[in-house]
Amino acid sequence: MGRRWQLERRRDHYYRLAKLEKYRSRASYKLKQLNQRYGLLRRGDVVVDLGAAPGGWMQVALEEVGEAGFVLGVDLQRIKEFPNKNAVTIVADITDPSVVEKISERIPRPADVIISDASPLISGVWDVDQARSVELVRSALRIAEEVLAPGGKFLAKVFQGALMEDLLKQVKEKFEFVKVSKPSASRKGSAEVYVIGKGFRHSR
Ligand SMILES: C[S@@+](CC[C@H](N)C(=O)[O-])C[C@H]1O[C@@H](n2cnc3c(N)ncnc32)[C@H](O)[C@@H]1O
Repeated sequence: MGRRWQLERRRDHYYRLAKLEKYRSRASYKLKQLNQRYGLLRRGDVVVDLGAAPGGWMQVALEEVGEAGFVLGVDLQRIKEFPNKNAVTIVADITDPSVVEKISERIPRPADVIISDASPLISGVWDVDQARSVELVRSALRIAEEVLAPGGKFLAKVFQGALMEDLLKQVKEKFEFVKVSKPSASRKGSAEVYVIGKGFRHSR
C-alpha cells in the first residue's frame, strides 16, 4: 500500500466512520444505503453473503435480520468468527460448483436474500477486470438458482463496462424487478455499481 493511498484512506469519511462505529469495513455503509433505498433485508431473513470478508456486510445483515434470522458468509479468505450464534462463515470459492452443496448444508432453509460484494483481484487491464467481475455475478446467479427461495432478493457488485448489458438481460430473466444503483458510500471514481433483483423467478 502506497503512502498516498494510506493518507487518502485516513481522510475518507466512511473509513473513519467504520472505525468509529466498529464496522469491519467501510463497505458496510454501501449495504446500509442500498438496504435503505431498496428494502432488501428483513427481520428473520436467511441471508447468504458471497465474498464476505472481512465481514462488514455480515455485521449490517446481522443487525437487520435480528436473532430470528441467519447469516452465512462465504469467502476465499477466512472471516473472523462472530459471537452471534446465527452467523456462520465458510472458506470457499463461489465460482466452484461444489460451493452450492457447502452453502445448502449450512443454511436452515432456502435463502431470502443473496448479497455479493465479491471483487476480483485487480489486474489493471480494464476488460479483464470487468470480465472477472461479471463472472463473479454469474456465479452468484448460479448459486441463487439453487439456494434462493422463490420471490427472493439479490444484490451484487459489478464493474461497469461492455458486458453489463448482457448481464442485466440475464438478471431480468430471473427477477421481476431489476435496478442498477451506486450508493454514495461507493467512491465516485470507482466503476463499481450494484445490481438489485427482487421477486426471484424460480426455474427449477
Ligand atoms: C470488497 S471485499 C468484500 C467486503 C465485504 N462486503 C465487507 O463488507 O467486509 C471482496 C471479497 O471478495 C472475495 N472474493 C473474490 N473472489 C472470490 C471467489 N471466487 N470466491 C469467494 N470470495 C471471493 C475476496 O476474497 C474479498 O474478500
